[in-house]
Amino acid sequence: ENLMTALHGGEDGALKTAVITLHRPKALNALNDPLMDELGEALLAFDADDSVGCIILTGSERAFAAGADIAAMAKREFMDVYRTQFITRNWETIRKVRKPVIAAVAGFALGGGCELAMMCDFIIAADSAKFGQPEIKIGIMPGAGGTQRLPRAIGKSKAMDLILTGRMMDAQEAERAGLVSRVVPAEKLMEEALAAAAVICGFGLPSVLMAKDCVNRAFETTLTEGIAYERGLFHSMFATEDQKEGMDAFLTKRKANFKHR
Ligand code: HXC
Repeated sequence: ENLMTALHGGEDGALKTAVITLHRPKALNALNDPLMDELGEALLAFDADDSVGCIILTGSERAFAAGADIAAMAKREFMDVYRTQFITRNWETIRKVRKPVIAAVAGFALGGGCELAMMCDFIIAADSAKFGQPEIKIGIMPGAGGTQRLPRAIGKSKAMDLILTGRMMDAQEAERAGLVSRVVPAEKLMEEALAAAAVICGFGLPSVLMAKDCVNRAFETTLTEGIAYERGLFHSMFATEDQKEGMDAFLTKRKANFKHR
C-alpha cells in the first residue's frame, strides 16, 4: 500500500529495470515499519527475479522521503527500540540486494530518507532535491547509518556541518560534495534514471554484480584486502560466457550480446 512497483524495458530479451516508488503522499513518504517491510520484500523479490537487471528507488516530486516517521517514533521507549532492534530489523534489507539499486531523488531526502538514498548504489538527483540529516532538531541523531555513510560520502567537515546543524543541502551542493553522481532537471529525473538503468541492464550480469560487490568492499576493508578480493573476482570473470562474448564482440567490431552468465 505504501509503494508502487513497475517493470520497464526488456525488449529483445534484455534485462528489465524494476522501479519502486515510495508512496505515502500524505506524510512526504515518511518511512514507517509497514513501508520498510514492503520495501524490503519488493527489493528481495526483484533481486531474485532473473528477468530484472537493475532497480530504481524513487519517491514523489515533493519528497523522496522526509525521514523516519516521527509520529510512529515519538512515544517509543528505550527498551522497546533496543529489544525490537528498531532500524536494523527492516532497514538493512537493502544491503542484501546484489543487483544495482539507483536512487532517483526529487524533493526532500531527509533523515532516514537521506540514509536510505545513501544505502543505494548511486544517487541521481533532480535539481529540486534537498538532502539533510535534521534529526538533531528533534532531539535524536541519525540512526540508519547516516553518521557513518555521510562522512564516507562527503568527508568529515561537511558531514559534521550537516549532522550538527541540521541544515539542508541542495542538489548542486550535494553534487559538488560527491553525495550524488549527477543532477538533472526535475522533469528529466526518471528518464535519466531509466536510461542509466537500461545501460546497466545491457551489460553482463556477472560483471555488474561483481563490480558492485567489489566497490562495496572498498568501504569495509583495507586496501590490500580489497584489492585481493577484487583480483579473485576479476580472475573468475574469465570463466564467464560474457567475458568471451564481450571481448569477441569488441574484436569483431559488433555489439555484444550478453547472456548474463
Ligand atoms: C512523519 C512527516 C514527516 C516525518 C513530514 N511529515 N515529514 N510525518 N514523519 N518525518 C508530514 C507532516 O507532518 C505533514 O503532515 C505532511 O507530512 C507534510 O509536511 P509539512 O511539514 O506540512 O510540509 P512542509 O511545510 O513543506 O515541510 C516539509 C519538511 C517538514 C521540511 C520536510 O515536513 C519536515 O521538517 N519534516 C521532518 C523532517 C525530519 O525531521 N526528518 C528526520 C526524521 S528522524 P500533516 O498531517 O500535518 O499534513 C529520522 C531518524 C532516522 O529520520 C533514524 C533511522 C530511521
